[in-house]
Amino acid sequence: MQTFFATAAAGTEDLLEEELRNIGIRSLRAGRGGVRFQGELSQALEACLWVRTGMRILLPLASFPAPDAEALYAGARAVAWADHLTPRHTFAIDATGTSDTLRHAHFTALKVKDALCDVLREKTGQRPNVDAHDPDVRIVVHLSRGRCDLSLDLSGEPLFKRGYRRDPTRASLKETLAASVLMAAGYDGTRPLHDPMCGSGTLAVEAALMAKNRAPGLFRPFGIERWPAFGPEHRKLLADLRSQARANERKETPLIRASDRDPEAVAAAQANVHRVQLPIEVFEADAREVKPIAPGAYVVINPPYGERLEAGGRKNLKTFFWQLGQAWRELEGHRIAVLAGGPEFERAFGQRPLARRRLYNGPIECQLLTYEIRAARAASDGASAGRRLVPPPGR
Ligand SMILES: C[S@@+](CC[C@H](N)C(=O)[O-])C[C@H]1O[C@@H](n2cnc3c(N)ncnc32)[C@H](O)[C@@H]1O
Repeated sequence: MQTFFATAAAGTEDLLEEELRNIGIRSLRAGRGGVRFQGELSQALEACLWVRTGMRILLPLASFPAPDAEALYAGARAVAWADHLTPRHTFAIDATGTSDTLRHAHFTALKVKDALCDVLREKTGQRPNVDAHDPDVRIVVHLSRGRCDLSLDLSGEPLFKRGYRRDPTRASLKETLAASVLMAAGYDGTRPLHDPMCGSGTLAVEAALMAKNRAPGLFRPFGIERWPAFGPEHRKLLADLRSQARANERKETPLIRASDRDPEAVAAAQANVHRVQLPIEVFEADAREVKPIAPGAYVVINPPYGERLEAGGRKNLKTFFWQLGQAWRELEGHRIAVLAGGPEFERAFGQRPLARRRLYNGPIECQLLTYEIRAARAASDGASAGRRLVPPPGR
């Protein structure tokens, strides 16, 4: 048994905890920025392969007080680096956080690099090289409240890089955030789903991966595969986990749709869907023309946030959200999930959310609002009888 730390975006730690529990990990504790867990290496590999919301799986090496540069160097020098790295392997150091006297991540990384190279030079007469872009071993350094945590990164490239998206558009969601939105909205892969403002299709693809029970990391490599200590028995273990995952994929999947009114977005979504090779209907349409699927089906959107995006300014955005509220009254029994980047959506949509939850899209604080569309009310305000195209004054 070893201790590992799975990192997560702020506000999604509980979702990651649930995912790790589902893998069969029993000893785990969610905290700020992730979940600490104890398990076998095979479970950490399963986590790399299976978690949809987590960003990295780390193997902690050391944790020590680091009030200043000397203490940081001394603590990093005490690590048995030769167990993890040889002079023939490249490495990169990813430093985050600050302490009173260590304010620059670049300087923190340099100090740890010096300690690591000094240890290996003394032991072998040579030092390994840095490769910032494609290292064999990634080292993660985190400073917080005067302490330094040093870890190795089993995932390598962060886990949101599933491999199906080559050219994310400006407003694309990270795959891990899209998965978090779906899980937090209660989507479990058994229901039909439509994202009618799909952009590059991330929400629909993540939903299809869940529906297929496909391990999100199935077709990508992990950093640990390049570690010197990753021997043939580990390779076999990972290969077995991959083929087991393939064997457990579901044959039948519910209907998944992705549409957008922008032909370029539709083309990007089609390319991503093609790479992931899952049955998702992709087409061009206006979100106000969504067709009902069936009670219990999900409609999930990540609408534009502000002036710069296609809907044409905040005022138009409000009108557009109001029109969505009117048009979607026809989606009786459907569950709606909206990752809203500002208060405009909730006000203009005009229905009371069943639940709300804070999530972060990078630095942007968002609200995930979930609704269930009830039977259209009697034509009390005229809107459900003949659809209005502009909101009443004051909306
Ligand atoms: C924030 S982006 C969605 C990004 C997407 N979740 C992704 O990960 O790529 C919002 C999308 O809404 C689309 N959109 C704006 N107005 C629309 C409308 N009336 N009908 C359909 N799509 C619309 C835009 O073209 C844009 O692709």
